[in-house]
Amino acid sequence: MASGNREPFNNTVVEWIDSRMPIFTLLNKEYGVFPVPRNFNYFWNFGAIAGFMLVVMIATGLFLAMHYSADTGLAFNSVERIMRDVNGGWLIRYIHMNGASFFFIAVYIHIFRGMYYGSYKKPRELLWILGALIFLLMMATAFLGYVLPWGQMSLWGATVITGFFTAIPFIGEDIQVWLLGGFAVSNPTLTRFFALHFLLPFVIFAVVFLHIWALHICGSNNPLGIEPKTRQDTLPFHPYYTIKDSFGLLVFVLVYCVFIFYMPDALGHPDNYIQANPMVTPPHIVPEWYFLPFYAILRAITFNMNLYFLLGLVMLLLLLVDFVWRKKPVYLSAAGGLALLVVGGLLVLTGFTGDSCQRIDAQWLEANVGFKNMCGTLQALPGMSAEAAPISAKLGGVLAMFGSVAMLFVLPWLDTHPVRSARYRPLYRVFFLLLVVVFLILGYVGSQPADASVAGVPLILVGLLGTGYYFAYFLVILPLLGRFEKAKPLPESIHDVVLAKQINAETKI
Ligand code: HEM
Repeated sequence: MASGNREPFNNTVVEWIDSRMPIFTLLNKEYGVFPVPRNFNYFWNFGAIAGFMLVVMIATGLFLAMHYSADTGLAFNSVERIMRDVNGGWLIRYIHMNGASFFFIAVYIHIFRGMYYGSYKKPRELLWILGALIFLLMMATAFLGYVLPWGQMSLWGATVITGFFTAIPFIGEDIQVWLLGGFAVSNPTLTRFFALHFLLPFVIFAVVFLHIWALHICGSNNPLGIEPKTRQDTLPFHPYYTIKDSFGLLVFVLVYCVFIFYMPDALGHPDNYIQANPMVTPPHIVPEWYFLPFYAILRAITFNMNLYFLLGLVMLLLLLVDFVWRKKPVYLSAAGGLALLVVGGLLVLTGFTGDSCQRIDAQWLEANVGFKNMCGTLQALPGMSAEAAPISAKLGGVLAMFGSVAMLFVLPWLDTHPVRSARYRPLYRVFFLLLVVVFLILGYVGSQPADASVAGVPLILVGLLGTGYYFAYFLVILPLLGRFEKAKPLPESIHDVVLAKQINAETKI
């Protein structure tokens, strides 16, 4: 019977199976002899590490589910029982709890690696989009899971996050009630969150399968960002990268174990060891650390987007389309563009300041930026009141937060520069590193109370500036760099660079 073109295996059991269903031939093709660029650095370990973490989370989650009760009267105590009475229960829970954090650490490094080396560019756009989808699914899964222990942060975190839906005009409140299965986070919410938290990791698993499939069709990128040309540029995946991935994984798991065994609660919030109480709101509700930059973006929009602001924004957007996104400015002359920039900018500023004057951070503006007399004048303008604003601050925050994740999906089309790796793009490298710093600062801002300040500067302002840079990076800086940045000359081949490095190292000895 035909079983395709395949080499027979020496092992009789393997051969017996493979001749009937060539799974070992497939594995050998995809993970044995599969050609991979020979110059990977350790950042290329994190895909395999993320895959390992997904398996760990599914395995430990399954055992936790055997002892967990998804009922508001029992959930908190069932988790305490896992910790105290179930054999090895504390270990399984700590592996799962800290596993979520380490899964996100691996995936964040994986994403930023992809951005630094331009791995999202042609022909890997679909691979990247599948990755972004995985990230979105991971965020949903982590949020649902955090509700299950039914501590104070579980309840109030869920209340805050599902409250975002009320920002949707007209139907928002109905959607929230539908999602919760009631008017507040309660028993129907907990049972459905448990069901979904159990399901989603399997959906992630399926998307990871597609992600790897897409990867094996176009092959891996590498630190130089150039395609392998000859066999000399590649190595078989096994044993070279099975060993390198195993070593990286071992180091990662060592750090992970330090957290599991020596500081298992360091990454969590102490309030989640207090049973959920709908009658007591914690003074400072914070999400898990991996959501903090996005939480900061959500909170950065404290102003209502009134007609002035929106009109200005549309003008600036037109400018962006015509002068930044499109190759040639077709419709506008330079003078027209300048006029649009000035008028649009002024309208945005007018709308923003006029609205800010109505709120607390206006006190800071008035004291520090001298807006004292301007506030009265601006507020007297028609349509400046908060009620007249088409997009409320809450809706604006939600749009900004979802927009910040959406940037990942369109990234391959925003960065139009033909060179992939930041190694050969000196300007891109600076802006990218700044983005990483801004992302970390946003994480810090998200961890602090909304009215906190550092050295007299309100963090809400830092959050707004950080959010501004985040969006400017994707929407303005990348497209502009794509048109104007002069890259360094690219090497001829991967092999040349590896060999030159080796000769260099040997002559030093
Ligand atoms: C459960 C989560 C994920 C798993 C298990 C996973 C797995 C992998 C694996 C095993 C690789 C090949 C090894 C490597 O390049 O590191 C890979 C490559 C890649 N992944 Fe992921 N991934 C995940 C999430 C993501 C996310 C969130 C993104 C981006 C938004 C992403 C984008 C990419 C890209 C662009 C590549 C190709 C990298 C290159 O060739 O340079 N992945 N992924």
